[in-house]
Amino acid sequence: MKKETSWFKVALSLNELLWQPNNMTVVEVNGKKITIAKFNNELFAFAYKCPHAGGVMAEGFIDSLGNAVCPLHRYKFSLKTGRNSTGEEYLKTYFIKLNEDGLFVGFEENKWF
Ligand code: FES
Repeated sequence: MKKETSWFKVALSLNELLWQPNNMTVVEVNGKKITIAKFNNELFAFAYKCPHAGGVMAEGFIDSLGNAVCPLHRYKFSLKTGRNSTGEEYLKTYFIKLNEDGLFVGFEENKWF
């Protein structure tokens, strides 16, 4: 089994997205809602809902350490790894890249060859 990344175009540029004041936005990728965040000139893509009890991550905020903070119970998840600061939950993260062709989100899939 091999892991492959499928890339989906989200926008032509960052300016095309409707950014909230908390530097987050929600896009639909391949029929799935994904949160996109900007922090320290880096882009991150992760699950729309919190794994704890379904809080909408884009309604939370990003703390100064680079954690996405859920609006419901304030669990903190590393933007880089998705790990919860207390190790209880794990926020699904996705690949994201910006190049001259636009902004892309990548899903890792298992493929059998
Ligand atoms: S739903 Fe996110 S911390 Fe509880």
